[in-house]
Amino acid sequence: MIIASNFKTNYTRGSAKAFIQAIQAFIANTKSEQQVRIFAPFTALDRFDEVETLKVGAQNFYPVQNGSFTGEIGFEQLEEFGIQTVLIGHSERRHILKESQSLSAQKYDFAKARESEIIYCIGEPAEIRVQGIDAVMSYLWEQFEGIDISYDKLIIAYEPVWAIGTGLTASLEDIEEVLTRLRDKLCAPLLYGGSVKVENIETILHVNACDGVLVGTASWNENAFCEMIRIA
Ligand code: G3P
Repeated sequence: MIIASNFKTNYTRGSAKAFIQAIQAFIANTKSEQQVRIFAPFTALDRFDEVETLKVGAQNFYPVQNGSFTGEIGFEQLEEFGIQTVLIGHSERRHILKESQSLSAQKYDFAKARESEIIYCIGEPAEIRVQGIDAVMSYLWEQFEGIDISYDKLIIAYEPVWAIGTGLTASLEDIEEVLTRLRDKLCAPLLYGGSVKVENIETILHVNACDGVLVGTASWNENAFCEMIRIA
């Protein structure tokens, strides 16, 4: 299973390092086989000891190696930390920071050309959800515009926007309905995200076609994140 934590705009260099070292120690002590990913803010990235069961990734980058894009982070700066996995298309970038599908696709192509693992995020807003599963799937497929779904290092995270940070987790039936329809057309591992916590991770991971989770709030507690890895 893939158990991923998205720090979002939290953690400093020091607190992130302490958290990641604690997770590294937990994985080493428990000999966990889970594939753990931690997506930290750029300022908290460092050259962490990369092992197969734990990779630290970037939440964002601009699709250039370097150049004149004031305030942006180029891939060259990620490579300096040995970053091998990136988040692309997170709903907060799409709906809060107004990142276009075109820009997400450019980032995807750029990361793919550099053979980076990509966790590509999709998810519908509440106003689409109420229109039913067909409207939800139509919306989700539109989020694959310009995306090469055959890429062998692609991981997909389905995160209904209305479940992110709200404590409102999608029902197991809804999660299964969406993931199995995605599985009909996609080979990539499928993750669920949206108010995953210690109390519900086990049942979510048992949903058909679910290959893991992408966790925000609940994963910012070190003990809770270790417990989620243990449960998985
Ligand atoms: O990327 C994961 C995140 O969007 C989910 O957030 O707080 O609902 O677990 P949260």
